[in-house]
Amino acid sequence: MPLPRILVIDDEAPIRDSLKMMLEYEGYEFLSAATGQEGLALVEREAPDLVLLDVKMPGMDGLEVLERLRNMNESLPIVVVSGHGTISTAVEATKKGAFDFIEKPFASERVLVSLRNALDSRQLRDENRSLKKAVEVRHQMIGDSSSLKQVMAAVGRAAPTNATVLITGESGVGKELVARTIHRNSLRSRERFVQVNCAAIPEELIESELFGHEKGSFTGATEKQIGKFEQADRGTIFLDEVGDMSAKTQAKVLRVLQEGEVERLGSARTVKVEVRVIAATNKNLEEEIEKGRFREDLYFRLAVIPIHVPPLRERPEDVAPLVRHYMDYFSRENNVRPKRITPSALDALAKHRWRGNIRELRNTVERMIIMSGGDTIDLADLPDGVRSPAAWSGAGASSGPAAQKSASGEGSGETKVGTLREFKENAERMFLVGKLRENGWNISKTAEVIGTPRSNLYKKLEQYQISQETDG
Ligand SMILES: Nc1ncnc2c1ncn2[C@@H]1O[C@H](COP(=O)(O)OP(=O)(O)OP(=O)(O)O)[C@@H](O)[C@H]1O
Ligand SMILES: [Mg+2]
Repeated sequence: MPLPRILVIDDEAPIRDSLKMMLEYEGYEFLSAATGQEGLALVEREAPDLVLLDVKMPGMDGLEVLERLRNMNESLPIVVVSGHGTISTAVEATKKGAFDFIEKPFASERVLVSLRNALDSRQLRDENRSLKKAVEVRHQMIGDSSSLKQVMAAVGRAAPTNATVLITGESGVGKELVARTIHRNSLRSRERFVQVNCAAIPEELIESELFGHEKGSFTGATEKQIGKFEQADRGTIFLDEVGDMSAKTQAKVLRVLQEGEVERLGSARTVKVEVRVIAATNKNLEEEIEKGRFREDLYFRLAVIPIHVPPLRERPEDVAPLVRHYMDYFSRENNVRPKRITPSALDALAKHRWRGNIRELRNTVERMIIMSGGDTIDLADLPDGVRSPAAWSGAGASSGPAAQKSASGEGSGETKVGTLREFKENAERMFLVGKLRENGWNISKTAEVIGTPRSNLYKKLEQYQISQETDG
């Protein structure tokens, strides 16, 4: 971390000198100004981390400087120093946003403590701000398809109420994100959001997870445990994979929903809880009911507000904004320069059938950001399974020249993919790049894997101008 830079604004040279000695000795970088005007200019130019400001100065006095500094930069910590330590100056300085007020003559300890506190509080505030920002970005719902807009509208309607919500949809479509968004936009947002994955907890433990237990209530219960429902009191409990609960657990959950009370295992006492329930499942609960695996009465309790999140293949318009969002996000996260993506690569991503939905798309983008070397992500940078269908469509009349260009290598000009030969070459190049990558660009190994002599592979690399350096 760079040294904190401290600007001292004081008209008395001896004071500036003694502060310089003290602050540099303590490891700060020292800047100084003899007038308010000069100080303001330095703040603009040097962006100090903290200002130590004298009140009584000829020309512009400290309180006026303080006010102007505040208007320039509301988060810059300012410690005011005054020889005429009347209470009223101190009060006024604080009102104008000074972090602290020190009287002259000052003990160096007093100054150092004040500086340290001011710098800490600033750092804390900065950290909180970037943390909050990070959380917001992480929980953003991206996409502008009409079906996602419908989901968002439902989220908006459900959020301020206490009604139970049942979120359905395939794996990776964003059910958890929807649940968290509802919580964050509800009156309970300051309370807890407690998540329970009903499928991940062994059946014999799920009751004690949900409802808690008293010490010694069963073998292995060495300590008393507070259940998730109690933990979520006044907040939200998110019952994920709710379709995977046993019949016994279903009955108990139903009881909590009906009566608002839980009973710890091994305890006769019931505890009132006030919890909002959001449930999610990728099962079709109506079908589960028909097969006798899910209680109908529980279903109706849960599905007061049903929200269905459609799979990505039903809203391909969302792919482009999602890809951009995740390219940005992972570039920042991994400290790599922002990249662009070619229209043909984006097109291939939009056409792919994402079985794992947004989670799979997100992982793919993350891998591309990390693995691709260049500034641009093109077809060749996409994973095999995503790229190949595009090779077919790339051979059709609707293909853009970009697909061909990237596939046939630099310098091949604007040839359109129109002939069978062009298509074959196109596909061959992609195949080779993919295999080379799989084998870590080891030529002998790749040649062996694809069953061709090494010399032939070299010839192909030459022909298509493929090399590890141009890859990505
Ligand atoms: N609309 C969206 N915008 C941005 N990111 C999204 C969106 N939808 C989902 N995601 C992200 O996709 C990933 C998967 O979402 P989530 O965990 O909410 O899915 P899920 O439906 O709960 O999946 P599963 O059924 O497998 O538990 C998460 O990283 C989530 O942040
Ligand atoms: Mg989930």
